Amino acid sequence: MNPSYDLAACRREIPVLQRLIPLANCSHSPLTTATRQALDDYRDSLDQDVMNWDGWMEQVDGAKQEFAALIHAEPDEIAMAPSVTAAVASLASALPLQAERRRVVLSGAEFPSVGHVWLAREPGGVAVDWVPMVQGMPPALEQFQQAVDERTLLVGAAHAYYGNGALQDVAAIARLAHRQGALILVDAYQTLGVRPVDVRAMDIDFLVSGCHKFLMGIPGIAFLYVRRQLIPRLHPTLTGWFGRADIFAFDPTLLDWAPDARRFEMATPPVAAACAARAGLALIRRTGVAAIQEWVLKLSGLLSTECRARGLSISGPQDPAARNGVTALICPGDADEIEDELRGLGVLAAARGQAIRLAPHYFTSPQDLTRALDALTPLLGSP
Ligand SMILES: Cc1ncc(COP(=O)(O)O)c(C=O)c1O
Repeated sequence: MNPSYDLAACRREIPVLQRLIPLANCSHSPLTTATRQALDDYRDSLDQDVMNWDGWMEQVDGAKQEFAALIHAEPDEIAMAPSVTAAVASLASALPLQAERRRVVLSGAEFPSVGHVWLAREPGGVAVDWVPMVQGMPPALEQFQQAVDERTLLVGAAHAYYGNGALQDVAAIARLAHRQGALILVDAYQTLGVRPVDVRAMDIDFLVSGCHKFLMGIPGIAFLYVRRQLIPRLHPTLTGWFGRADIFAFDPTLLDWAPDARRFEMATPPVAAACAARAGLALIRRTGVAAIQEWVLKLSGLLSTECRARGLSISGPQDPAARNGVTALICPGDADEIEDELRGLGVLAAARGQAIRLAPHYFTSPQDLTRALDALTPLLGSP
């Protein structure tokens, strides 16, 4: 079993594979030689130039271009933010509420931060309603259908649930939101890099993601996509000098708005994280998201079969095709303790709640999975 790209070559570019099996990619992916080089170049530039704003802004723009290409958008539809939470907060600060349209309908599969941002706006008039998950499964489309009405301003749906990788059909959710005149925000942090996303084909209005999960970057950066036609009527009140039409106007009395998605930015960008993000995104592009998806699906199929054979229980959808590649194994004991013990055995997994998540990526080999399960099975106390 092999991917359509050169797996051995990919693995050579991830030094930590010499001593660890990184399967916590839904939380943080390992450093690649390309990302290390990008960070080294930035450190050299700090050393030599002290500051090189032109060069650094080229990196920032390059990262935006890569992100735009990944989701089939244009760079001027992309804003950079320090985190997904900040990106959603910026969007939330911009959406105009109308008396008859102020409901925000959120899937129960949202990352908590996304919920917190909208809930914090309730005193300002937003009415948050939830479409709940049932036993680790994302809400069915019919549940969304019932929840979304003509008073709905926005629907928030994570592309995949962070807890167990369960996918939501965001294109179908977008269709039903639009039928009611509502907008859709997709949190694609758990899918970008392992599943193709096309904001045009999926008819998505807003999309957010950071870079240190399947996109092979580091923390400190996120992106917000805003559909071009929506930009002129959105005025984020969470703002600063980078959101102005002319960043260098230096006029504190002038509150104008950049004509493009930069109006959602606030201040000096996270340059180091942008350098890493650009390198990670370029690597994913070169490897090919469709090929990665195919490989990750095979690996998670293998994991499912092996888990069944070992009597281990998987949380959420049992069909690997209904997940983003993550396999969340239900822990009888403390999942955080199991994560620590596994690390001692050379396997990096990601605990979340009652489960320990195994998240293969493009560089994972079938042998990695067998070794990880050999280490994990006795810890889970199965036969
Ligand atoms: C789906 C999803 N959204 C948002 C976040 C939080 O991102 P940030 O810390 O950049 O706000 C996470 C982090 O795990 C996540 O998995």
